[in-house]
Parts: sequence; structure tokens; C-alpha cells
Amino acid sequence: MLDSVVNINGILTPGNRATVSVFDHGFLYGDGVYETLRSYNRKPFLLKQHFTRLRTSARRLLLQNLPSDRELESRILETIPTVHPTGEVTIRILVTRGVGELSYNPTACPTPTTIIITRPHHNPPDEVIRKGIKLIVASVVRNHPRSVDPSIKSNNLLNNILAMQEAFQLGAAEAILLNQRGELTECSQSNLFAVRNGVALTPPLKSGLLEGVTRNFLFEVGAQLGTQVRECVLTEEDFHSVDELFITSTTREIVPVVSVGNQVIGDGTPGPITSALLAKLREMAQAANSPIEESNSKL
Ligand code: PDD
Repeated sequence: MLDSVVNINGILTPGNRATVSVFDHGFLYGDGVYETLRSYNRKPFLLKQHFTRLRTSARRLLLQNLPSDRELESRILETIPTVHPTGEVTIRILVTRGVGELSYNPTACPTPTTIIITRPHHNPPDEVIRKGIKLIVASVVRNHPRSVDPSIKSNNLLNNILAMQEAFQLGAAEAILLNQRGELTECSQSNLFAVRNGVALTPPLKSGLLEGVTRNFLFEVGAQLGTQVRECVLTEEDFHSVDELFITSTTREIVPVVSVGNQVIGDGTPGPITSALLAKLREMAQAANSPIEESNSKL
């Protein structure tokens, strides 16, 4: 079994032999978009939602000629049994501008490069879920929507990397980014939720952030659980008064947060609403995905 398997423009390759041209504009300029998915019961979860966001992101960059959803799905499904015989996988789809002259003119690259990287999936360790994580507020602010708009899931991730470097230096697991008005937006690789008086609150899209697929799913999870989940403008001041804090993402599901910098959140332990939402999310994800027929490995 392989650590990773990569489909490049339709050709399946072991991860350690997967390469792209140095003239690919994804490499030269970070000119491209991506999605990260995971499987439950070995079937990609919320595939349609990820495809929709991938196409929305691509449209924003005037990136054209992507493979169809059906073609992408078939490429993804082909990778799963090859990389992991039984367990869950994480799938990253990248679509870059493609290979062409060193030019910002999109006509230099008529054909995008489409890459699917599939790897075994690892949930956050149980201890992380039991104890919660520490965050910081980065000094780097989230891109202004009129710069590289955070609602585009682009391969151009330097802003997120700069924020996360601050977190690494301070021993934190994630970095919260503010917008230029001082409102909370999201973290470097996840969305942010706070719980106050039993209601889960998350910054609105107009604060300037990625519309997370898990964030959207949380509205459904909350409805099933009878817990209100809604958007609300939040600032650092709110850390003093919220009872719970958590992050969401495809690969991490829900992870409780117990402190931000020196500020302890609630009683400093993961809260009951966070735990209940996580349990319900897992239950709904398992129920939504029935096991799939596996195709034979092509490697
Ligand atoms: N990260 N915000 C940012 C900046 C992200 O990069 C991500 C996802 C999210 C959560 O989105 P979703 O629920 O759709 O995964 C929010 C993925 C996991 C990644 O970078 O691989």
C-alpha cells in the first residue's frame, strides 16, 4: 500500500513519483484552486458541495475547462482502494492554470492541470478532542475581500501560512485571523464558532472568510440536535463572555478550543454543546454515506 496516490490529468501515479512541470502556473504563481475532502465509510463526504465550491472558486479566477463533476468523481473513486485497503482517506483536488509561458495572461495556459492527491485519513487524536486546543490571534490580518478574496479557496496560501507560523512559534494549534475592522473571521485552516447561552455563533460571510463546507453542515447538525447555530459578528472582546469555542474543518470535524492566547475560554475544558455537536456531526456523516463498491486498483 502507498502513503499517497496522485491522479495527474487522469493518470494515476504513486505519490513519490508524482511531479508537475516547473512551468505550471500553480507552481510559478499559486494560480489555482483546491478542495480538501474526506471519506466516511470510504465514500467522499459532501462531494457535491465541494465540487460546487471548486467551480465557484475557479470561476472567480476565470479558470476554465475543468473536467466534469462525473469525471472528477470517477478519478477520485479510483484512488481510494489503491491508497488504503480498508480505512478512510483524505482527498485534495487541485486545479491550476496549467503549463505555459511566464505570463499573467490566462491565454498562456489553455488547459488547466488537475491533480487529485489521496492519502490515508487521520482524525485528530482522542486526547486533542478530550483536552481541547490552544489558539492565538495572529498579527497578520485576513486578506481583504477586494485583495485575494478569502471566499476563493485558492492555492495561494501565503497569508494563511504567515498566520500559522505565529501559532507554531507560540505553541498554538491554530491561528485566528481578524479582518481590517477587527472582527473575527476564521482560522488559517478552519472556521471558528463560539457558544454563548446555548447558541453556537460563527462570523458571517461578510466578515470575509471561506464558506466552509463543514461550517454549512453545522447549521444542519444544529437543527437536528435542537441547538441554534447562527451567524454573528464577533470580536476579541467576546472571548471574555463566551462559554465555549471550537473550530471546524473537513479533516478535523469539530475540535474544542480551551484558550486563546492568555484568555481561558469558559471553564478551560471542552464544553457540552461542542461535544454534542461533534457526536451529532459524526452520526449524520456516517448515516449519509453508505459503503461503496470498490473498483480494482490500477497501480
Ligand atoms: N481547510 N477556512 C480555511 C481558511 C480553510 O482552509 C478551511 C479548510 C476551512 C474549513 O473549510 P471546510 O469545512 O470546507 O473544510 C475554513 C482544508 C481542510 C485544508 O486547507 O486542507
